[in-house]
Amino acid sequence: MFRTHTCGELRLSDSGNNVTLAGWVQRNREMGGLTFIDLRDRYGITQLVFNMEVNPDLCKEARELGREFVIQATGRVAERSNKNPTIPTGDIEIRVEKLEVLNPSQIPPFTIEDHTDGGEEQRMRYRYLDLRRNENKKNLLLRHKMAIESRNYLASKDFIEIETPYLIKSTPEGARDFVVPSRMNEGQFYALPQSPQTFKQLLMVAGYDRYYQIVRCFRDEDLRADRQPEFTQIDCEMSFVDRDDILNTFEGLAKHLFHSVLGMDVTDFPRMPYEEAMKLYGSDKPDIRFGMTITELNSLMKGKGFPVFDQAELIVGITAEGCAEYTRKQLDELTDFVRRPQVGATGLVYVKYNPDGSIKSSVDKFYTPEDLKPVLEVFQAHPGDLVLILAGDADKTRSALGGLRLEMGKRLNLIDPKVFKPLWVIDFPLLEWDEETQRFYAKHHPFTAPKQEDIPQLMFGDAKKVRANAYDLVINGVEIGGGSVRIHDKALQQLMFQKLGFTDEEAANQFGFLMNAFEYGAPPHGGIAFGFDRWVTIFGGGNSIRDFIAFPKNNAGRDVMIDSPSEISEEQKKELGIK
Ligand code: AMO
Repeated sequence: MFRTHTCGELRLSDSGNNVTLAGWVQRNREMGGLTFIDLRDRYGITQLVFNMEVNPDLCKEARELGREFVIQATGRVAERSNKNPTIPTGDIEIRVEKLEVLNPSQIPPFTIEDHTDGGEEQRMRYRYLDLRRNENKKNLLLRHKMAIESRNYLASKDFIEIETPYLIKSTPEGARDFVVPSRMNEGQFYALPQSPQTFKQLLMVAGYDRYYQIVRCFRDEDLRADRQPEFTQIDCEMSFVDRDDILNTFEGLAKHLFHSVLGMDVTDFPRMPYEEAMKLYGSDKPDIRFGMTITELNSLMKGKGFPVFDQAELIVGITAEGCAEYTRKQLDELTDFVRRPQVGATGLVYVKYNPDGSIKSSVDKFYTPEDLKPVLEVFQAHPGDLVLILAGDADKTRSALGGLRLEMGKRLNLIDPKVFKPLWVIDFPLLEWDEETQRFYAKHHPFTAPKQEDIPQLMFGDAKKVRANAYDLVINGVEIGGGSVRIHDKALQQLMFQKLGFTDEEAANQFGFLMNAFEYGAPPHGGIAFGFDRWVTIFGGGNSIRDFIAFPKNNAGRDVMIDSPSEISEEQKKELGIK
């Protein structure tokens, strides 16, 4: 037997027992005639002690042990004279009588401590060492717990886990596909799934009623803190349901996870139409932990001779309470912030409602204090407040102000990291017009149903105005999941493909299998997929999903540990028919 106990398990009540532990040397220190070793495994740390007076040979051997050596130690559990209240095993130590080195270790390239000296690149290269650190361990344990609890909840609601294939067919919709050449079918390629969307719908046609899968998805898109080229979804689908059945079922999942994983009872899941989210928060994933909502100012600020505002499609503003005394430098910083390409505004207008009641703005040339008073009134601003205004193209300006709102929320410490505020954003637009390619794209995906009452608008009216029966779960400004009620009617699906600019032939070529299936008794169905990595990250209070994935890719999409992607041999290329 390698060990009788783990390194996280022994307590004062075990005193006097003879035990064997195995693990890694975290730290080795000498104090007079004693040598102390912190022995670490996944479960914790236990102190080993060697006494020069009692057993000089063994003690000398212990002094030679370097960091990360793998050892096995046998001895008696004893009460410590110098207790460590910060760890659960801190009341005891093992007085070692027998020691065996199971495997020595080179000196690790960085310290395996909570505060490590390793840089990001180095820790990624030696990810197996980085994973020994508490923080990563804690993150992966959280991930495990959330997966188990998701399975528990879904199984209790009659969902069954079914695997779908990873080698599928490339389609031009959505993000770019990762493709895999087929040796047996030279010149042809599989694609890795961006999601199991069509398969889960086919499972509904097959009558499985409630499906889920914790499943890897692959998307060849530019990476950010919340995006990885391979990521995991909790993917779900249900039959014979309407939107509210779906939202209620998955609100149940979210409540279960909040309760079982975080010990929190989160009960309020407001439902906000997309249009309202964009109007009030300038975002389809609003962080509703703080207010500072957006107000439209067109009627109050147009027609006073300020060309920027007069020509703008939309003028909108927010109030930053107590910021009237912002300095020139602070205001310049905010202007630089909104001008960043990611935010995309051309400039920032401010109105200071000074503590003495006077009004000062960056557009005093065009607006008298009398003109500005009604603006302050619509904001219900108080002396001491600062109003920040952007103008321009409606959509861009709203989202730029949404970005500034978040920045101000951070600067003013209005965002409590310990609070969780989920919401459903509903009624997304069905289609999005792309100027560059002069065609519509599906905002969610081409299988999403329009809202019943908007179908005539899709058939005969303005397709841009059609709302989808689609929804996202947003928590603290992060899109955690998205889904929709699906089209289950062949004719409507065909109309949708037409609107997306597919010829009948192209639609049949790419999605014929689904449309055929719709001719064999497709039940009404719908579902959702949650970004599991994002959900774990937000529960763990992290900033990047990378920290919650065991072996993530870096920002260039590389795994620097295994050095991938990499060249393949001429032999392999020949076999695959690739030049
Ligand atoms: P969607 O494309 O919205 O929907 O994806 C669902 C959720 O997956 C997460 N996500 C990602 N997480 C990490 N890295 C990425 N690159 C990435 N891309 C997406 C997000 C997102 O909300 N089949 C549909 C779902 C459905 O209609 O049922 C789908 O995949 O959290």
